[in-house]
Amino acid sequence: MNKIFIVNLKMNLTYKDASCYKRIVDESNINNLIIAPSNIYLETMKSNKYELCAQNGHYLDYGAFTGEVSFKQLHSINVKYSLIGHYERRKLFNENIKDIRLKLLSCINNEIIPILCIGEDKKEKENKVAIKKVIEELKTILKGISLDKLIIVYEPFWSIGTLSYPEYKDIELMHERIKNIASEHTKNVYVLYGGSVDKNNIKEILNINNVDGVLIGNSGINPHNLIEMYNIVK
Ligand code: PGA
Repeated sequence: MNKIFIVNLKMNLTYKDASCYKRIVDESNINNLIIAPSNIYLETMKSNKYELCAQNGHYLDYGAFTGEVSFKQLHSINVKYSLIGHYERRKLFNENIKDIRLKLLSCINNEIIPILCIGEDKKEKENKVAIKKVIEELKTILKGISLDKLIIVYEPFWSIGTLSYPEYKDIELMHERIKNIASEHTKNVYVLYGGSVDKNNIKEILNINNVDGVLIGNSGINPHNLIEMYNIVK
């Protein structure tokens, strides 16, 4: 199976849980997996079985920013990917499009492959402006930038952690539009879907045209669930 699986572990797992998670995944048959743990586990969870991803980074390389970690620092411990612009960063930490663009540029400068999260909120969906909003935002973030590889996760904000998700035809259309725009900026673009992916919908979602993989939150916190989901679609 060549679809990409990303697991966003958010602020979950203790040190012991993280070691256990790594052991279970290492012993499994899963492949094409990227795990985004809390930064403190990026060393503990290093593995040949999967790649590691940061959940966020600061766009400046160094400086007086207590509590922050830069993409340069992440690169120095061989972190290959970083999420950028996740909905929770936008909503809970007031990240805006300007910040997201700066983070994207910093990833490129520091040889980290960006995983850009983008989506619409409930109101935008109801007002039927989801595609317009996402595409305009994507154009603004990518303006004048070209890069080797870009992963984009289409994550409707209203779908994250809610057990609700869009109709498959809406996912298909959105992914097609995103891919068209992103292809003007990179030769290697992968468009993944995220938001309430679980074992009941993963097969259908991965069968949609232009869905190159999934980003999993809640359903991936238990490694056994993650492996079960992989085995449903492998
Ligand atoms: P969820 O989270 O799978 O729990 O909806 C997805 C995410 O936060 O990216």
